[in-house]
Amino acid sequence: MKLWGGRFVKEPDKLFLEFSSSIELDAYLWREELLQNAAYVRALGRAGILSKDEERLLLKALHELYLEAASGKAFWNKDDEDIHTAVERSLSEKVGEVAFKVHAGRSRNEQIVTDLRLYLKRRIVDINEALTFLQQKLIRLAEENIDNLMPGYTHLQLAQPVRVAHHFLSWFFMLKRDFDRFVSAFKKMDFCPLGVGALAGNSIGVDREFMAELLGFNQPTYNSMETVADRDFVLHFLSQASNLSLHLSRFSEELILWSTTEFGFVEIDEAYATGSSLMPQKKNPDSLELIRAYCGRVLGAWVQLATILKGLPLTYNRDLQEDRRYAVGIAESLPAAITIFTGVVSTLKLKTDRLNQALQNEYLLATDIADYLVLKGMPFRKAHEAVGKLIKLCEQRKIKPSELGLEELQKLSPLFDRDYYGLFDALASVEKKVSSGGTAKAQVLDQIERAKDLTVRQQDWVESQKEKLSQIFKSLFGG
Ligand code: ARG
Repeated sequence: MKLWGGRFVKEPDKLFLEFSSSIELDAYLWREELLQNAAYVRALGRAGILSKDEERLLLKALHELYLEAASGKAFWNKDDEDIHTAVERSLSEKVGEVAFKVHAGRSRNEQIVTDLRLYLKRRIVDINEALTFLQQKLIRLAEENIDNLMPGYTHLQLAQPVRVAHHFLSWFFMLKRDFDRFVSAFKKMDFCPLGVGALAGNSIGVDREFMAELLGFNQPTYNSMETVADRDFVLHFLSQASNLSLHLSRFSEELILWSTTEFGFVEIDEAYATGSSLMPQKKNPDSLELIRAYCGRVLGAWVQLATILKGLPLTYNRDLQEDRRYAVGIAESLPAAITIFTGVVSTLKLKTDRLNQALQNEYLLATDIADYLVLKGMPFRKAHEAVGKLIKLCEQRKIKPSELGLEELQKLSPLFDRDYYGLFDALASVEKKVSSGGTAKAQVLDQIERAKDLTVRQQDWVESQKEKLSQIFKSLFGG
């Protein structure tokens, strides 16, 4: 069945027809397509285009299609040009001629953006739920490791000791921003396109406010032309997804490094590793490598869609159909990437022996030596210089800073005293970082409390949106 054949005498080229079909990816939008059809049928009923009986018949048929599809019986097939065609055909198979009344005043241009907005809203809720779950696991890791220390790095060079919990909480707060970004994308797409027609508006009296409310949107869109031309909301979704995937890629890289023989800080569970077909000793962190690479897919999706939009005249152009590759492609795969990363984190084994061994490097405490001199009255720049010389001396003599004699130290500065030897304790160093957000135990515990508070609020958001989504179904189909 074609929705547009009347003025044509020739059949379309077969290869072109195949090339132009979007049904494969549209299939991911079947729920949303049925819901919006139901909302439109209700609006047509209100406008007097459908009788009460016709409205009831059509709603019942749409409900049946929904239940059938939900139980695995697809109503679309590869000969349907798109999901809109599939619904009209399937409806007509169920109720006959009256199915052909539903497209009155309506265009597929508004339908597709209605589907996409509803679909991305649903997927954002799923993504934010998966994110919150990951964040809870990070809190647990932080709690379990509250007393474990590790070297912190800048430039991937040993810097200062930190609490292991502090590191995992840093990931938590990066993800918190991702959660908020997705909420913001959700709000920006929360406008209902239905009733804008092909581009100019609707002339048969459907109530746009009514349809927006039925579909759980905040309000109708403002301008019919920009509504069918706009894919900014998809781009916005992809941009937030890019940010999140950048984070996952950075976290993955850290775990990959930490799991090497050279670092040896963590062990990745076998469930998330693979072996080599040649080298029997290998246990490779492929899951993390694939998540690290996944970022390329997401960033690429943003660039590809932006490239399609660039220079595109208003309003609808068929180019826009390509949006699904990126919208659906990323929305379907992102929750899996988050969940796999969550699995790696939940099963991660920390090798505290190795961490403690790495902490033996006294250069991690060089800043503490400078702080020691500062607290005894030396200007910081001078203290930095003196400790620099101290390090040089140790390197030349191949000894540790704690092995320098007091006389040698006092040649560098008369401020050095016996208490200098008490500096070589990573825990003492960490406990001095009492500024808010610092790595002292009290501060890290404070971060954990805040993090817990935030996840409760995040969960509330997820639950309330899920509730709203299930209300849409109930208000259109009842039960
Ligand atoms: N399959 C089309 C798409 O996904 C639906 C809109 C078609 N509109 C049109 N004017 N050809 O974008």
